[in-house]
Amino acid sequence: MCGIFGYTGTKKTAANRVLKGLKTLEYRGYDSWGVAVVSDQKTESRKADKEILVEKQVGKIGNSVLKSDILNLKSNTGIGHTRWATHGGVTDTNAHPHLSCDSSLAIVHNGIVENFQKLKKGLNKSHNFKSDTDTEVIVHLIEDEMKNKGFSEAVRSTFNKLDGLNAIAALSSSGEIVVAKNGSPIVLGVGSGEYFLSSDATAIIPHTKKVIFLEDGQFAILNKKGISVYSLASGKKVKTEVQILDWKAVESTTGKFPHFMIKEIFEQPKVLRNAIISLEKPAIDMAASIKEARGTFFIASGTAFHACLAGTYLFSKIAHHHVNTAVASEFNYLEDFLTKQSLIIALSQSGETIDVVEPLNRAAKKGAKIAAVVNSLGSTIYRMGSIKVLLGAGPEIAVASTKAYVAKVAFLMLVTYALIGRIEEAKKLLIKSAKEIERLLRKENISEIKKIAKTLAKSEHIYTIGRGVSYPTALESALKMKEVSYIHTEGLAGGELKHGAIALISKGTPCIVYAPDDETFESIISNATEIKSRGGLIIGVGPKNSESFDHWVPVKDVGEASLIPMVVPAQLLAYFLALGKGWDPDKPRNLAKSVTVK
Ligand code: AGP
Ligand code: GLU
Repeated sequence: MCGIFGYTGTKKTAANRVLKGLKTLEYRGYDSWGVAVVSDQKTESRKADKEILVEKQVGKIGNSVLKSDILNLKSNTGIGHTRWATHGGVTDTNAHPHLSCDSSLAIVHNGIVENFQKLKKGLNKSHNFKSDTDTEVIVHLIEDEMKNKGFSEAVRSTFNKLDGLNAIAALSSSGEIVVAKNGSPIVLGVGSGEYFLSSDATAIIPHTKKVIFLEDGQFAILNKKGISVYSLASGKKVKTEVQILDWKAVESTTGKFPHFMIKEIFEQPKVLRNAIISLEKPAIDMAASIKEARGTFFIASGTAFHACLAGTYLFSKIAHHHVNTAVASEFNYLEDFLTKQSLIIALSQSGETIDVVEPLNRAAKKGAKIAAVVNSLGSTIYRMGSIKVLLGAGPEIAVASTKAYVAKVAFLMLVTYALIGRIEEAKKLLIKSAKEIERLLRKENISEIKKIAKTLAKSEHIYTIGRGVSYPTALESALKMKEVSYIHTEGLAGGELKHGAIALISKGTPCIVYAPDDETFESIISNATEIKSRGGLIIGVGPKNSESFDHWVPVKDVGEASLIPMVVPAQLLAYFLALGKGWDPDKPRNLAKSVTVK
């Protein structure tokens, strides 16, 4: 998690640039933030020029009042960080950057130094630790190494001592930055006379489209002269390729909407229409690769996993094709069957989820073919795929994924029909889904959802159930609700209720029941009736009303694609529940958009 940004150039506005970069990266972690710059001017309060100055605070960048004059200071070089705490509480002191004892070095870090305690014990006792983080040990180690090495060599030998998946950027008061990586993403930006580093390319694009993706096992030096990349193992210079990214700068405003989450929910019809055009060819190609493979495995995390699960049902029901689906973090324990003929299809919005990256690395070692289906161009997973598919949902900023989920399901729907040579049918279904979502987003229908949100606002527990392809919908709905409303919501297969969870139903317990007009209808209504008989409050979602429903959210039947519009009421419900409780739906507590730690 966490966002790292760095700048060196001649514009003398390093702090501004770093802060701006951090704002774009804030979705990656937002419990605290910090900036360190090398001052290029002497003032009364400053003993020397070339001093490192730090401003760091708990909370979101936009809400902060700066305590220092860092923004007005003339500075050519700086680094910054938005934190997602793993070691040490959320405090100003634990926020990055961390300084060396003599304040000549600053460090920002993404990841976990797994052996930090051992490294700390090995350090000279004279080091004064200020924070509880694992990170701080890095800067003290570099400080020690610098007694007999230059800055970049000191960073290299320190980084090589760290266990775990990490990326660091170290700033020296000499005005140089050294960045190293093993696991967490780093992109370098090549401007004219100015150079950038960032956890992802979106923060670099406003400045330059020329980028270098730093690979694992590499480090780079950024200074006035430019960027040079080296091997962490040998210290020798490595050849790198400067890529030109043909992207537009990320739209970072919510436009006419109050939050990104609702903006992105409203973008879903457009996402579906785009998918029909841009994902047709990739879907046909993917179907061919699936047919060729001996064993196809879907892996993903969270919402992306729910999309995979939905795909598994679609493949089985429509294309009669078996695929294996696993939560990415569990795939480590299930990968024994992989061979050179296996195809691993990884789905990921960010393309950075470490739980997906790790099994992909192992699968690649076994010679399996990797297909990356991602929404973020240039991301780690995207670059790992020999088959690369861009979902094209546009930047998803809200932590709770909505439009990227719909894009993934749309892609899998296209692949399903492509497998049986009937992709035109899928395209028609996606158009119908887009229209139905537009209807659901009409004012009068949103008002109905708002009323249900009021009814559910005081609930401590909510259950969501579905059968067949509506089971992933139930899981995804439950995830949306818990992520942003913090109400415990559990998604279940309708048939599983009586195997335990029904014990938790009492008078007034809300249960959202997904009842599409398909082969699951009768059985799911029976499950709803079982809950109602025990006092449960039933919110039915689907094209047909039922006596068992206390509230009915009509969603028109769009055939096999019904799962797409069916998820929208819960996205809206989650959003309005969060608003009602006064939470920020875009930045839910404890979460980050890009999950780059295990
Ligand atoms: C979705 O609302 C969540 N924030 C989360 O479950 C997310 O889907 C998961 O972390 C996977 O992310 P990815 O698609 O970027 O790999
Ligand atoms: N482990 C470090 C910390 O807790 C870095 C976390 C991050 O990646 O934001 O401060």
